Amino acid sequence: MITEIIKFKEVKSTQDAARQLVSKNQELAVVALHQKAGRGRHGRYWYSPPGGLYMSLLLYPQFRPEVLPLLACLAVIELLEEYGCSRLSILWPNDVLIGGNKVCGILCEKYKKAYICGIGLNVNVEKFTDETLSATSMLLERKEEFDLDAIVLSLIGKFNSRYEEYEKHGFEIQQAYHYISGIGEPVEIVTSKGKECGIVHGIDSDWAILIRDDNGIIKKYYYGEVHKLKW
Ligand code: BTN
Repeated sequence: MITEIIKFKEVKSTQDAARQLVSKNQELAVVALHQKAGRGRHGRYWYSPPGGLYMSLLLYPQFRPEVLPLLACLAVIELLEEYGCSRLSILWPNDVLIGGNKVCGILCEKYKKAYICGIGLNVNVEKFTDETLSATSMLLERKEEFDLDAIVLSLIGKFNSRYEEYEKHGFEIQQAYHYISGIGEPVEIVTSKGKECGIVHGIDSDWAILIRDDNGIIKKYYYGEVHKLKW
């Protein structure tokens, strides 16, 4: 459970700043107003101008860490609903979308004994770069600016509740089904072993994606990047 927030004006990446704090052996959040070298998944760059929320949670979970992105996605969704955003969905495993456009990305990394769950949420971001064309922000959706400090506190509170709940009682994946984008749709999944195509059959309770191939065989993936295929 996060009990401390450490704030910076500017860092290279809050993921790296959180790594520096691993010896504290304490669950905490690192937040920055701006990142000079924000990182996304698969070594990509995360556009991090002032106005966005850039936060890394330093965690020592007593459960399978694969579900951390799900807990973070659900906390973000609950927050966005409270702030009046609709048409919300989760693109497995780590993205939160508004109307199909990405508003939040999550990057979970293992570092020593800890897991660092980085959350990038486009709050008051007005313009995006060419690489982030399918992105959106709370500001663009709601046509108003939001108080970042209040959002940080609220998001940590929501994450803490889900984290504690998961530690005690686990999780029924059905709770998240409503938000998961692409079930029953054709996709391509890219992993370190290559690309495979199939139909999204569902999501397992441990947050693995189940994809049915052309032969009807259901395969389970814990990692990968899913692209929707248009037929
Ligand atoms: C992705 O969608 O590829 C994941 C993006 C994760 C971005 C966040 S912002 C806070 C933390 N610090 C980083 O450098 N990255 C994560």
